Amino acid sequence: MVKLVIGIQWGDEGKAKVVDYLACDADYVVRFQGGANAGHTVFVDGRKYVFHLVPSGLLHPKTSVVIGNGVVVDIEALLGELKEISQGVSLDGRVFISRRAHVVLPFHKLMDGAKEEKSVQKIGTTRRGIGPAYIDKADRVGIRVCDLYQPGLETKIEAATEVKRFLLEKYYGMTNLPSIPEITDSLYKQAEAIKGYTADTELLLQNAYRQGKFILMEGGQGSLLDVDFGTYPFVTSSNTISPGMFSGTGIGYIPDLGIVGIAKAYITRVGEGPFPTEETGAIGESIRRKGKEFGATTGRPRRCGWLDTVIGRYSIGINGVQEIFMTKLDVLDELETIKVCTAYELDGKKIDYPPASAEELRRVKPVYQELPGWKASTFGARKYGELPANARSYIEYAEAKLGCRISYISTGFEREDVIIR
Ligand code: GDP
Ligand code: IMO
Ligand code: MG
Repeated sequence: MVKLVIGIQWGDEGKAKVVDYLACDADYVVRFQGGANAGHTVFVDGRKYVFHLVPSGLLHPKTSVVIGNGVVVDIEALLGELKEISQGVSLDGRVFISRRAHVVLPFHKLMDGAKEEKSVQKIGTTRRGIGPAYIDKADRVGIRVCDLYQPGLETKIEAATEVKRFLLEKYYGMTNLPSIPEITDSLYKQAEAIKGYTADTELLLQNAYRQGKFILMEGGQGSLLDVDFGTYPFVTSSNTISPGMFSGTGIGYIPDLGIVGIAKAYITRVGEGPFPTEETGAIGESIRRKGKEFGATTGRPRRCGWLDTVIGRYSIGINGVQEIFMTKLDVLDELETIKVCTAYELDGKKIDYPPASAEELRRVKPVYQELPGWKASTFGARKYGELPANARSYIEYAEAKLGCRISYISTGFEREDVIIR
């Protein structure tokens, strides 16, 4: 069985909490795109774990984790993460890294940061080198995990860095850039450290699927950050939506794939780009405070706003979402009224589909339905009947507007704070 957990907003929907919750019987948890730009938080028994590259399944002792070929791997960051996790958890035979995954080099991170500093069009990236690494992959000068064990690595690194070195020095005015031998030496050391984890992960997953194992695919980022269907150019550089799972793992066609869309009960966004339902005043601030909405990777304050069912329906469509796991309902507990965006107005015309252009999306005015708040705690609720009537009305209204069943509701950050409807 294969289940895919995918964010249907702008990331940070609580995917890791959901993955951790669904993974108790999982044989494998798999990342298939993105890299250390992800910040996936799991709380178990009061302890907080933040995963960036490592899939959020390692806390279940019988679950193995796979970093698929579609991920861009910062090996130094990965080793740091594995070291931290290994303090309480055995990693023996439980971690697999695709030989076909691309490696994030120091120059990728430098380019990412330099572009962000100087460009006239800032994206607000996480500066983890994600865009430049995917550029090199498409440009056929990327370094893959398998290359680390072959002769000629220095030449490959030179091919990958020569133009960037020129740009960084001459255009961005940087000095003291790492030399090719320095990069090669440190990569050789990192390669040694991960050698035991490398595998042909596509084959591993194909066999596991055939044997009836439970494979949980963990999306990074969110659908509105997808490089094709997101709010381009304010997106990440990978396919975050469900089809990314196929090219990012090589698992093959899965006729019985289950697709769970994760949506917060409101919305957040980090970085630049249009966000029609954003609340920049006191309400946004109170959601940020109550929801602890600060980036798990960069610590940046997240922009906060109301649930937007226009982009929700759009995301459900492009992903083929079958059911929704709604998170962070408890964050809305204190609000007097709660708004849900049901349509947009663009240049005086009502529309119910997001425009393709970021400029138009920036101009839309949300059409809201206001619902009464419940002014009571839902924190930690585990039964639907325990929720206040207004909280249930909110869920049911959102469900009707999204046109997709909300099967699970998360009411707290701990693993067990979940309602199954
Ligand atoms: P991800 O990137 O989608 O995995 O999400 P993040 O980890 O970046 O951000 C989600 C945050 O919300 C984390 O700090 C979670 O611990 C927290 N969280 C998840 N579900 C709930 C919930 O239902 N209620 C509350 N209060 N916090 C939650
Ligand atoms: P998780 O998996 C939220 C955003 C960045 C920026 C844009 C491009 O934790 O949900 P990048 O570094 O990828 O080139 O940045 O994408 N972004 C995220 N926002 N959650 C994430 O991951 C994100 N990963 C990238 O803020 O706007
Ligand atoms: Mg996150």
